[in-house]
Amino acid sequence: MRPLHVMVVVSAIVAFAFSGLSCSRQDAQETGKIVVGFSQIGAESDWRTANTRSIKAEAAKRGIELRFSDAQQKQENQIKAIRSFIAQKVDVIAFSPVVETGWEPVLREAKAAGIPVILSDRTVDVTDRSLYASFLGADFVEEGRRAAEWLAGASGGKAQIVELQGTPGAAPAIDRKKGFEEGIASHPQMKIIKSQSGDFTRAKGKEVMEAFLKSPERGSITALYAHNDDMALGAIQAIEEAGLKPGKDILIVSIDGIRPAFQAMIDGKLNCTVECNPLLGPQLFDLVADLKAGKQIPRRVVVKEGVFTQATAKTDIQTRAY
Ligand code: AHR
Repeated sequence: MRPLHVMVVVSAIVAFAFSGLSCSRQDAQETGKIVVGFSQIGAESDWRTANTRSIKAEAAKRGIELRFSDAQQKQENQIKAIRSFIAQKVDVIAFSPVVETGWEPVLREAKAAGIPVILSDRTVDVTDRSLYASFLGADFVEEGRRAAEWLAGASGGKAQIVELQGTPGAAPAIDRKKGFEEGIASHPQMKIIKSQSGDFTRAKGKEVMEAFLKSPERGSITALYAHNDDMALGAIQAIEEAGLKPGKDILIVSIDGIRPAFQAMIDGKLNCTVECNPLLGPQLFDLVADLKAGKQIPRRVVVKEGVFTQATAKTDIQTRAY
């Protein structure tokens, strides 16, 4: 499949922290603007930074008043932000949930206030599906399957794998693990020998890989599966510092498709990246506009993505938008 290339022109950026806002929905309504409250997870990875840029740029382009809040990777901060958006009577709330569970009470509050909620990038685990209007994001299980499929081909179906998981309890960590395990299930000689969270960050990815390389299993590791590129890039440093060649002594497959991952493929240090497209701004605000126009919106919007290897990295990097 060819990758989806989405070019975003950043014309202006409008950002509001949820605290200290004086502008109400009524003020914005007077100017005819749609007001959207967005709670972002944080800035844990290059992917997240690109996602934030896309959302802010698209809101600015469409003249939407965006009230943006960075939760610094804490669920409690996201809940506070959502409550604040409810108090401000925004038109629509959108958020990227850091973990899957624990959202029912605050989502019920939004529903009671008549404010529709759109899940962006990650989903939530709730029994009452009427608590959100739509979920826009990637198919993380499929991404895990694609990573496994690539590794099965590249290793001839024989690999002793170490896994760097994302944030515990986060949808992409749960689903990418599931998809990968499904993908290797039909290859009896592919085994995950160690698995730990690197919290989707470069620093933690490096730290955990260092520990893997000091463990009794260090001599048998032949492959690394990282739930995102940032952790893989951190792990690459750890592998080099341990005197090994990333991409050769240890095959590496990760997820996201950020530019530094393409550079690592060009350098021969990363073998494959499975795309997870962060440029969700245009689709998110299409959903917001449709909601505001009283149209029925789809409950699930899946983002199209591709798989990239060293073979085409030099050409692909030229058109990467993030
Ligand atoms: O939810 C998407 C994941 O979150 C990305 O793969 C990762 O880089 C980010 O932090």
